[in-house]
Amino acid sequence: MKKHILVTGANGQLGNSIKKQENQWPHFRFIYTDSKTLDITNQNVVETFFKKNSIEYCINCAAYTAVDQAETDQELAFKINALGPKYLALACKASNAVLIHISTDFVFDGCKTSPYTETDTPNPINAYGRTKLQGENSIVQTTEQYIIIRTSWLYSEYGHNFMKTMLRLSKTRSEISVVNDQVGSPTYAGDLATAILKIIDSKTIQYGLYHYSNTVETSWYDFAKTIFKFANKDVKVNPIASAHYPTLAKRPNYSVLQSEKLLEQFNIKASRWESHLKKVLEGLT
Ligand SMILES: NC(=O)c1ccc[n+]([C@@H]2O[C@H](COP(=O)([O-])OP(=O)(O)OC[C@H]3O[C@@H](n4cnc5c(N)ncnc54)[C@H](OP(=O)(O)O)[C@@H]3O)[C@@H](O)[C@H]2O)c1
Repeated sequence: MKKHILVTGANGQLGNSIKKQENQWPHFRFIYTDSKTLDITNQNVVETFFKKNSIEYCINCAAYTAVDQAETDQELAFKINALGPKYLALACKASNAVLIHISTDFVFDGCKTSPYTETDTPNPINAYGRTKLQGENSIVQTTEQYIIIRTSWLYSEYGHNFMKTMLRLSKTRSEISVVNDQVGSPTYAGDLATAILKIIDSKTIQYGLYHYSNTVETSWYDFAKTIFKFANKDVKVNPIASAHYPTLAKRPNYSVLQSEKLLEQFNIKASRWESHLKKVLEGLT
């Protein structure tokens, strides 16, 4: 029997990364939806969709991910990042389905100096992080059959991400400044997709909250330098402090996630963030 998996927000980075792996999982049957075919902020639509389709797992890739824009668009960010997950959790509970939801390192304030674990207390410092934390809480309060995975600094061949922004800038700029005082872990969305599908494939699912990021920690400045090196782009990168690069949303200075729990429970080992970077860049340049 194939496992029936609903993927919401499937046109984003993570959704496309799952689609790309579909052939490697012949015992899964995927149903991909986007904001037009399944708007997760519409409770009636969500309920009806779950009643019409037999769904055993729902991977929620839908999110409001524009971190700066969220500061001025908090209502919509709340709807997509908090209410949508709640409606999915209610529908999953009614169908006895498992909800796999993705959250973010930005639920933390960045005051720590060692990797954040699942037991650390969140304290978001921007609207995006607050709405994502509200989404986590609404799931925990609604259903027991959930996996919440916090991840960080996603990059992939799809959608919008820092790596693609750097590539675009390299076409017109020979020198750029990038912040060097924010430290985190870039994560290849394809690795996250594999981790999620391995969880679904595991014999028993230990529900709960998990962290998953590639290793090892780095700064946006070093990430940018590696991107240009791997893409053979001659762009000079100047390190600057966040104070000299004002943004609408504040970012945590340190948001490295520790992925040990996922390793222990599901034997899923995080690889280094550079390991896919060259290949992804080769496909784009
Ligand atoms: N990107 C990162 O660096 C990062 C870091 C940490 C955690 N995360 C989390 O990882 C997850 C995946 O991120 P991502 O980078 O793949 O996101 P993404 O590329 O921005 O994709 C999000 C998708 O959600 C869809 N969506 C928006 N509103 C929707 C709605 N009401 N109903 C259904 N779909 C809707 C969007 O579709 P439309 O384009 O049609 O609106 C978009 O395709 C998110 O939960 C995000 O918070 C991301």
